[in-house]
Amino acid sequence: MSSERTILVCQGRCCRKDGSKQILTAFESQTPPDVQITPCGCLGQCGNGPNIVILPEKNLYQRVSAKDVSVLFLTNQN
Ligand code: FES
Repeated sequence: MSSERTILVCQGRCCRKDGSKQILTAFESQTPPDVQITPCGCLGQCGNGPNIVILPEKNLYQRVSAKDVSVLFLTNQN
């Protein structure tokens, strides 16, 4: 992954209810040194959460689970 990569992990109320805290923890425990993990507020997609956005491409991933974290790292390598 590029050194400019940032992963926003929604920590809004709806996503937290659906497990986004565990997703944030999973990302933080598996993060390569050149990727920044940032909790964020509601992304406006509450009905499809938990949601994350990968920057700079602004790719939105919905209904993410903690088991998806390693796959997301692999599919977003440059
Ligand atoms: S709370 Fe996550 S998109 Fe709204």
